[in-house]
Amino acid sequence: MKTVVIHSIHPREGKTKIAKELAGFVQLQGRQVILADLDFIADPHRRALGLPSKPNLEDLLQEITKQSDTKPFFDIQFSKEQLEEFFLNHQSGLKVLSSENSKKLANDEDIAQKLRTTVRNLKKMPYDLLILDTDSSNRDYNQVVLQEADLVLIVMDNFRYNVKDLVHYLRDLNDMGYDTDHFRIVLNKIPNPLQIPVEELEKESGLKVMGIIPVLSGSISPSYDTQTEDIHLIVSQPEKNPSFVQAIGSVVDELGILS
Ligand SMILES: Nc1ncnc2c1ncn2[C@@H]1O[C@H](COP(=O)(O)OP(=O)(O)O)[C@@H](O)[C@H]1O
Ligand SMILES: [Mg+2]
Repeated sequence: MKTVVIHSIHPREGKTKIAKELAGFVQLQGRQVILADLDFIADPHRRALGLPSKPNLEDLLQEITKQSDTKPFFDIQFSKEQLEEFFLNHQSGLKVLSSENSKKLANDEDIAQKLRTTVRNLKKMPYDLLILDTDSSNRDYNQVVLQEADLVLIVMDNFRYNVKDLVHYLRDLNDMGYDTDHFRIVLNKIPNPLQIPVEELEKESGLKVMGIIPVLSGSISPSYDTQTEDIHLIVSQPEKNPSFVQAIGSVVDELGILS
């Protein structure tokens, strides 16, 4: 199974949108995909796929906490069946680990270790792709998750995107001894001529731009103001948004999951 983390430097740059559409695209191609929402910041009503709120990550973390009374974190192992009890089932077949009610979890002093245990167990599942959606906080639990990935996709929008912030962020990670060779950029929304061109972005950041996702037609301003992510998968209706779905498809091609 390939593990892909979706991350961004600033909130609201499109992580959740891209995470669920990538996951949905691969699932609709007949592969088995897990989408795990590890965002501890966003409000619960911003769930990506309109699924029920239970079971969720909190339930799984509680189970890990319970087991950690009697054994070290690295010894906590779940079978496929045990772990699947914490998943929600989307109609596409996608399995979703939801992070409902998670704000208080971020303050758990062992959250980084518990998340590592979670991610390592997820990685052992006999699925084709694991997509981990994150929040944009600079917390230790995010660093743990980034290091568990085969690939980290940094989503950047072109309204606010700031190459300097990215360069600083990468340098800070490197200074702390973390590797960033497996990081790539996904530009969410086509760069306009006033913004830094892709080549320059690649040169300055040292990261490859793996895809450019266009703005969905008709959804530019309203959806940015609402707090509610839509419940549909855009990739399930390619005829409605062909360029968006094509762009998601070409990121999937680059990931090499379907080949
Ligand atoms: N390419 C896009 N086209 C249209 N709307 C988008 C696009 N990417 C993101 N959005 C919208 O922008 C808002 C923020 O995106 P979201 O994925 O929730 O960001 P994040 O998870 O990084 O905080 C959401 O309402 C989402 O639907
Ligand atoms: Mg999000």
